[in-house]
Amino acid sequence: MTDKPVAIVLGGTLPHVHLIELLKERGYYTVLLDYTPNPPAKQYADEHLQISTLDIEAVEEVSKARKAELVISTNVDQANVTCCYVSEKLGLTGPYSYETALNVTDKQRMKRIMWDNDIPTSRYIQVGSVNDVSDLDMKYPLMIKPADSNSANGVKRVYNESELRKCLPEALKFSRNGKAIVEEYVAGKEISAYGVVVGGRANLIMHQERMSVYDGEDKVIKCYASLAPSRIPDTVEILAEQLLTKIATVFDLDNTPLFFQGIVAGNNISVIEFAPRVGGGISFRTIKDATGYDIISAGVDSFLKIPISIDSWHPMVEKYAVNQIYGSSGIYRNTSGGEALLHNGIIKTLSFYKHEGDVIDSSRASSSRIGVMVVKDRTDTGLRKKISEAFSQLDVFDINGKSIIRRDLNLDLLWDSTNIDN
Ligand SMILES: Nc1ncnc2c1ncn2[C@@H]1O[C@H](COP(=O)(O)OP(=O)(O)O)[C@@H](O)[C@H]1O
Ligand SMILES: [Mg+2]
Repeated sequence: MTDKPVAIVLGGTLPHVHLIELLKERGYYTVLLDYTPNPPAKQYADEHLQISTLDIEAVEEVSKARKAELVISTNVDQANVTCCYVSEKLGLTGPYSYETALNVTDKQRMKRIMWDNDIPTSRYIQVGSVNDVSDLDMKYPLMIKPADSNSANGVKRVYNESELRKCLPEALKFSRNGKAIVEEYVAGKEISAYGVVVGGRANLIMHQERMSVYDGEDKVIKCYASLAPSRIPDTVEILAEQLLTKIATVFDLDNTPLFFQGIVAGNNISVIEFAPRVGGGISFRTIKDATGYDIISAGVDSFLKIPISIDSWHPMVEKYAVNQIYGSSGIYRNTSGGEALLHNGIIKTLSFYKHEGDVIDSSRASSSRIGVMVVKDRTDTGLRKKISEAFSQLDVFDINGKSIIRRDLNLDLLWDSTNIDN
């Protein structure tokens, strides 16, 4: 038992390590809920309970029993829904209503509201079974997505009806509500635009270009790098900020971090999806290093209904490349070369997702990601040189000592490609 106010944190992800640190600074006793035994944030929390963040009733029960003052998740979509539900039920503060949380996490709801309110997004249909896709009046290629999944699980690009019928069951299987979206593919440059909404208006904090390939026989989408700032004209940057404001207005969002993923084609942006929370992966860290802005702290303010400030933000000076390190299929053993790269200042940070003995399955994007390394420099030339050096010195081995690093998925080699090419 504790005298401090209790904060229940949903999900022990890496960004939530920082969230827990911030909550402790603000005087909270932190109880982490995560169904896995050893999540990255476990050792930072005051307590860890092995409860699924998707188990709404269990989360409500613990929050009640512990007299929680805050039920929070700043970086995980589905956990956010649970937070909003429990906070509303127990009369605690939260960033927005449960209804809004559903509108912004269920792709069917999100697409419908965007489409009805002239937020530019590609044509789509809602699908509940393979029978819904005969003779579609849509232009191939099409994207298939589970309605409420993430991390590109079950997301596929298809070129004709027979491929569509073949891939749809998997997307439906990945979806928890058994539904899927089929939408027109948009060719162009993919960006993520990160902002915070203050007084009904969005402030663009950072934008990143997101590079992916459709890899291997199964054409699995693998995002191999993000480059900040993205290579877009000023006019598109202004448009990105306007779009964030429009999304906030239409979806009734205020005093919250907000980001969207979209495709830039010429001077237009087509929105793929958005989320009124802090972005996933290590984007919070890149934003902090590049602009001085602590977006997770803004997320805490949002949950507490404290007005978010952007005073600590400054424009970017250097360019950042976040490079995902992929491996071919096998059993992971170890990585070499990382220490020297860090020591020589060629890379700025290096984190691993895998432990010895983990299975790497190249047909699944998240399974084949070994780690991530960040490189920064003032110029493109300098950035590319460092990326090239990093990939030549770094190696990843399987249990038989065979090198399994994917050096081909490397931003220096693929500098001029966009998703039009692959
Ligand atoms: N309409 C589209 N046009 C082009 N690429 C798309 C489209 N929809 C999705 N993608 C690609 O698929 C990825 C995953 O899709 P997304 O809708 O973001 O699903 P998730 O929730 O799994 O992140 C995107 O980051 C993008 O690369
Ligand atoms: Mg996405």
